[in-house]
Amino acid sequence: MNIILFGPPGAGKGTQAKKLVEYYKIPQVATGDILRANLREGTELGLAAKEYMDKGELVPDEVLIGIIKNRLTEADCEKGFILDGYPRTIPQADALGEILVEIEKPIDVVLNFEVPDEDLVERISGRLMCKCGASYHKTFNPPENEGICDACGAEVYQRADDTADAVQNRLDVYKKQTQPLIEYYDETGVLRTIDGTRDINVVFEEIKAILSEFA
Ligand code: AP5
Ligand code: MG
Repeated sequence: MNIILFGPPGAGKGTQAKKLVEYYKIPQVATGDILRANLREGTELGLAAKEYMDKGELVPDEVLIGIIKNRLTEADCEKGFILDGYPRTIPQADALGEILVEIEKPIDVVLNFEVPDEDLVERISGRLMCKCGASYHKTFNPPENEGICDACGAEVYQRADDTADAVQNRLDVYKKQTQPLIEYYDETGVLRTIDGTRDINVVFEEIKAILSEFA
């Protein structure tokens, strides 16, 4: 199964991706997580991406296209993948289309999470992250032991781009550069829209129902 999780910052892409990985045993390919891992390791790529990420701007397309091409051709994507945070621009979507033709893995479904801006800001400002990619919320989804990741036991932290200014910019950038992809994928008939305001498990049940059509 080849899936794209689509939606604004804070819509719940990462949260649902983790549940899908566990349920379907296919990998999450989250470009934000890949960039943050590079930053932690101090790679050239990570350092170059930091200035964009901290401001809530998109990292240039050519960088992301290179990352995604390498990642989707790794062996663990053979049975399918969950794209989270990619594509975010029309050129990224066009490049993805070409890569997927080459590796003969068409997208089955694009799940588009809809959540109003007020909720997104509340979610992002209370978010706690782990370096393993797990995502929590101080109120809506706290880890079982305060400050500690349920999945890997590491300490959770607040993301550097979860500041008020960067969040507002991320929402603006989403509307200008990423939202046009809704029409792009709707035209190809793969788009399914999900009300992302409901409880995490209710959203997950709906996703499973949709995906059962493709299994
Ligand atoms: P990225 O890491 O992809 O961040 P994002 O798109 O801004 O999305 P988020 O991770 O903030 O939101 P999410 O939808 O995953 O929400 P989550 O599940 O965590 O990108 C970061 C940066 O990297 C970009 O700004 C850019 O600079 C760069 N980048 C990455 N990809 C790129 C690309 N392709 N091109 C160019 N640049 C790129 O949930 C959020 C919070 O809400 C959590 O606290 C969670 O617990 C809570 N929550 C989740 N679901 C619910 C629910 N149903 N009810 C209540 N609370 C919920
Ligand atoms: Mg995320």
